[in-house]
Amino acid sequence: MRIFQKAYSVVGALLMLEFFAQLYFIAATIFTIVNTNDNAKDVYAAFKNADTFAGLHAINGYIVGLTILIMLILSFAARHPRRTTILTGVLFVLLVLQIVFARIPVPTVAALHGLNALILVGLGGYLTGTNWAFGRRAEVAVT
Ligand code: HEM
Repeated sequence: MRIFQKAYSVVGALLMLEFFAQLYFIAATIFTIVNTNDNAKDVYAAFKNADTFAGLHAINGYIVGLTILIMLILSFAARHPRRTTILTGVLFVLLVLQIVFARIPVPTVAALHGLNALILVGLGGYLTGTNWAFGRRAEVAVT
């Protein structure tokens, strides 16, 4: 069981890195556009360049979904408390919601994607931190 608890922690830490990359890619997308010169040719080129970062954001977003699914399986295997497994499931539901928001053609509603991102990062950090299976505190929890 210990090995699965450790695996949950490692994959949780990886999820946090993916979240950081996710925020970096979308910020790079936005700055590529806003930092361009104010003429049609440069604005067009900026949108083309920004597409690369936006594409990386979308691909990494789907990798985030896969990572959360792996965490869910590991949560069962590690026999984590039911609350942890349920909250890991909630994390996956929030990711699905994230994709739904991104596809809603009303900008004021789609922008909830940005707020949902905060909840995803917060809950991911909470689950990874409170179930950390390495170090002295983890040893005490086992005995
Ligand atoms: C936890 C962090 C985040 C996750 C997991 C995430 C996930 C995703 C995913 C999976 C997509 C692709 C959706 C599709 O297939 O249509 C997407 C698109 C998008 N996201 Fe995020 N996102 C996150 C944070 C953010 C933030 C903070 C912003 C902006 C403030 C943002 C802005 C966008 C935009 C503008 C798109 C559309 C890109 C395009 O159509 O080319 N995302 N996101």
